[in-house]
Amino acid sequence: MNTTFIKTNPEGKNYRPSRRTVEIVGHELLTQDIVRLTISDEYTAQQGQAGQFVNLYSKNPLQMSPRPFGISEIHGDKVSFIFAVVGRGTAEFRDMSVGDRIDILGPLGKPFDVSKTGRYLLVAGGLGIPPILHAAQKLSQRDDAQVTTMFGYRNEHFADSYVDQYCDDTRSIDNAQGNVIDLLNTWIQENDVKDLKSRAEDIHILTCGPEPMMKAVAAWACEHNIDTQLSLEERMGCGYGTCVVCITPTIHGNQKVCIEGPVFTREELGWK
Ligand SMILES: Cc1cc2nc3c(=O)[nH]c(=O)nc-3n(C[C@H](O)[C@H](O)[C@H](O)COP(=O)(O)OP(=O)(O)OC[C@H]3O[C@@H](n4cnc5c(N)ncnc54)[C@H](O)[C@@H]3O)c2cc1C
Ligand code: FES
Repeated sequence: MNTTFIKTNPEGKNYRPSRRTVEIVGHELLTQDIVRLTISDEYTAQQGQAGQFVNLYSKNPLQMSPRPFGISEIHGDKVSFIFAVVGRGTAEFRDMSVGDRIDILGPLGKPFDVSKTGRYLLVAGGLGIPPILHAAQKLSQRDDAQVTTMFGYRNEHFADSYVDQYCDDTRSIDNAQGNVIDLLNTWIQENDVKDLKSRAEDIHILTCGPEPMMKAVAAWACEHNIDTQLSLEERMGCGYGTCVVCITPTIHGNQKVCIEGPVFTREELGWK
C-alpha cells in the first residue's frame, strides 16, 4: 500500500496521514444507484470514529474538489462507504472495480460522542444512513449501551441487512409508508411517556439526513427533553478547514462544518 504517514510533532500529537493512495477491495451495487465501496486502509480503520468522514478524490484532474463520505463500517483494516450516484464524482467511483486504487484523506471531522451509557435512538434518512450505521457498529461493542435504529428510505431499504448485525431493534420506513417521526412516535407509544421523561437523561438521539428531517427530529427531541447530536451533510470544498465553503450558523457564530462538525448538538445549532 502506498501510504505515507506524517507526524506533525515529535510526540505524535496531531498525528495525521497525508492524502494517500489505497486499494479498493470491495465494490457492490446495493440498488441501481447506491454503491457500497470498501477500501483497505489501516490508519482509517484504526482511527475512524462514528460520524467521521473521508475525502475521496477523482482521478480526473478537472475535478479538483474531493467528495466527502461518512464511514459506514470498519472490519479489520477494511473501511466501507455507502453512497448514492448523484453526479460526476460518484459516477466515477461507481465505475471503479476491486483492485483499482483511489486517493483518500481522513478520517476527518468531529465524531459523535458515543461515550454515554443508556439507550441510543439512531435516526437517519437517505444518505444520512451510512454514518449512523457506523455509530450502530461502534455502540454494538459496548455492554452498557442499547440501540434502536430508525431509518427512513426513499424506496429500497438498502442498509437494513447491515444494521441488523449490530442491533436487535431495527425499524425502517420508506416514503410510501411514512417517515422517521412516525417511527419515533411509535417507539414512544411503546414506552410509558412519564417513564421516558424520568429516564430522559439516559436516552440519546444521534441523527443524520436531510436538513428538514433533522429539524423535525430536533423538535421532537426538544419536546421530549432528549439530548441530541446531529451530523450535517453540508456542501464541502476542501474538507479540512481552508476553503470556507461549508459554513453553518450556530449559537457560537458561523462555524465550519468540516472541522467544527459535522456533528453538532441541538443546542449548538439552536434547533428546537
Ligand atoms: C460529511 C459528509 C458526509 C457525507 N456522507 C455521504 C454518504 O455516506 N453517502 C452519500 O451518498 N453521500 C454522502 N455525502 C454527500 C456526498 O459527498 C455527495 O453526494 C457527493 O460529494 C456528490 O458528488 P458528485 O460529484 O457525484 O455530485 P456533484 O456533481 O458535486 O453534485 C450532484 C448533485 O448532488 C448534490 N450534492 C452534492 N454534494 C452534496 C451534499 N453534501 N449534500 C447534499 N447534496 C449534495 C448537488 O447539489 C447536485 O445536485 C456526504 C457529504 C458530507 C458533507
Ligand atoms: S470544506 Fe473547506 S473549510 Fe470546510
